[in-house]
Amino acid sequence: MIAPTPPTAELHLHVEGTIEAELLVRLADRHGLPLPSRDPAVLRERYAHFVDLRSFLDVYYANLAVLRTEEDFHELATGYLDRALKAGVRRAEVFFDPQTHVQHGVPLEAVIHGLSSAFSAAEETHGVSAALILCFLRDLGPEAAEEILRAALPFREHFIGVGLDSAEVGYPPSLFTGVYAMAAAEGLHRVAHAGEEGGAEYVREALDLLHVERVDHGIRAMEDPELVARLRDERIPLTVCPLSNVSLRAVDTLGEHPLPRMLDEGLLATVNSDDPAYFGGYVDDNYRAVARELGLDRPRLAQLARNSVDATFAPEEDKRRWHAEIDAWL
Ligand code: HPA
Ligand code: ZN
Repeated sequence: MIAPTPPTAELHLHVEGTIEAELLVRLADRHGLPLPSRDPAVLRERYAHFVDLRSFLDVYYANLAVLRTEEDFHELATGYLDRALKAGVRRAEVFFDPQTHVQHGVPLEAVIHGLSSAFSAAEETHGVSAALILCFLRDLGPEAAEEILRAALPFREHFIGVGLDSAEVGYPPSLFTGVYAMAAAEGLHRVAHAGEEGGAEYVREALDLLHVERVDHGIRAMEDPELVARLRDERIPLTVCPLSNVSLRAVDTLGEHPLPRMLDEGLLATVNSDDPAYFGGYVDDNYRAVARELGLDRPRLAQLARNSVDATFAPEEDKRRWHAEIDAWL
């Protein structure tokens, strides 16, 4: 049978957002840590009631206290790869939030080695090409971002770029101009969350001041026709996360999501899962949901998958191979 969703790249995934309730309980038991419940079903039920980004982040950060050791991070990454393989992921460029873990007393080395030992072998173990992107938590400010980047530079070979996540409004990209310049000088790729809850001006700042190569979310760019034209002309990829946008109420319903308009405008829009353990599905679930609720047919799904491949930081020869797989799927 032909797979119902295309082979794809996944470019907007927080590895910490793949911590399924079962793993949460197992790690809490391992380290003797408290949880609101030991019942995965009860924990999952809590994830169904976010009202905005902040209410999600409060649960997300609290849960991350169970990640203590290099082994825990390796297990988290391996769990994602197992699921990504089933989802048809060929390339994953995965966010991680080191500041959270360091705040919890975990050595940075344990975080990076735990994740990278799984991801660097993923091509052999899972047939998934995988790389890490270190994210700064914007609500901790620019000095903390510079501090974590400096601390991570001894592990430079284990990550390919930097990103910017966490609470958006009130923490515009302009605050992070210096640390992005530092990252650029190190030859790191640059992406940033912008235009999820923040407006189109956050997207402009990310482009003009942080010189990002991709915009994460970016859906509110659709409010600004001039910006839309620029994103199209400069072929700036947007890593859109439909189920996340509904869960965090960035859009009211999936049926009203701007994704079809983004494609009609010729934007390099891609489909991603963001925090799949919380938002109701992995990247294949997101493809199925937009196919069903937005009436996207197979050629449109293939277009989204091609966009995702073009938007990766992977070598051209890999991109050609994945494009051929998408053509075969179609
Ligand atoms: N937005 C911003 N920060 C995040 C998210 C998100 O959806 N998930 C994890 N950190
Ligand atoms: Zn995100």
